[in-house]
Amino acid sequence: MTTQPRHFLDLHRLDGATLRAILDDAAARKAARRGWPQGAVDADAPGKDRVLAMIFEKHSTRTRFSFDAAIRQLGGSAIISTAADMQLGRGESIEDTAKVLSRMVDAIMIRAIEHEEVERLALASTIPVINGLTDKSHPCQILADILTFEEHRGPVTGKTIAWVGDGNNVCASFIHAAPKLGYKLNIACPPIYHPDLVDLARAAQEQGRVEMTDDPREAVRGADCVITDTWVSMGDVDHDERIEALEPFQVDEKLMGEAGPGAVFLHCLPAHRGEEVTDAVIDGPRSLVWDEAENRIHAQKSILAWCFGKIG
Ligand code: CP
Ligand code: NVA
Repeated sequence: MTTQPRHFLDLHRLDGATLRAILDDAAARKAARRGWPQGAVDADAPGKDRVLAMIFEKHSTRTRFSFDAAIRQLGGSAIISTAADMQLGRGESIEDTAKVLSRMVDAIMIRAIEHEEVERLALASTIPVINGLTDKSHPCQILADILTFEEHRGPVTGKTIAWVGDGNNVCASFIHAAPKLGYKLNIACPPIYHPDLVDLARAAQEQGRVEMTDDPREAVRGADCVITDTWVSMGDVDHDERIEALEPFQVDEKLMGEAGPGAVFLHCLPAHRGEEVTDAVIDGPRSLVWDEAENRIHAQKSILAWCFGKIG
């Protein structure tokens, strides 16, 4: 009997203990290498001799550089390509690509246009596949976000997170993790840009505390964390309609003033200053966005370590 690879596809497919083990490992690894150069390898080198393939069908700064830095810090190396430069871009199937890469590398991270491609890649791979963002979700980002929150505000369990704006892929991963990590999630979005209904139904079934409103002030009232994201994600075509519908959902200082006294601000970046967030908030004292960006490295090292069977 062959064992299934440990794929990291979506947070709702993992249990809370696994997510907690990944987060705890990330915090410990980060603390243990404080002050080291970025290229130094962690003492236990859990990715020694491992090769990570990275495939990009969409643009990326943080995911690209943080995964490359992450695998190096674990003692391994990366091979990076856009899908357009591969035979994938000329019509080779995702399944054949999976079978070939499974013979050449030890794990695959893919940023895909359609979520289904990641699922198909995983089904046909004999090595772990990591979702580095699709149209439906962005699980790596949310672990970095929770790591960042907990560094500043302590355990996320029992805390309230307010998502303000588009009910998009990043929002979806916050919904997926809510029942697993036990935070309350208040989502304020315009009705036409609501989150995926299947995600909301699953979270409810798993006793997740997820509340919906179209009033940003109601969502952020007393919250410990306020989060937003771009109003126009990669692949969205209805730019003007989105800007118009989402304009009342801008996170500004007035809105942050309605949140709890120690509330922090997060944004996965890239930000569109003057649209979903003002300069005063993103550059202000409550903003943790640069820690959040750095934490992509630390969270993903522990995701990779879990994929390699070194955690949990
Ligand atoms: N937050 C994030 O995933 O950024 P990139 O698109 O730059 O990878
Ligand atoms: N929601 C954004 C996130 C970018 C990291 C997008 O999908 O474009």
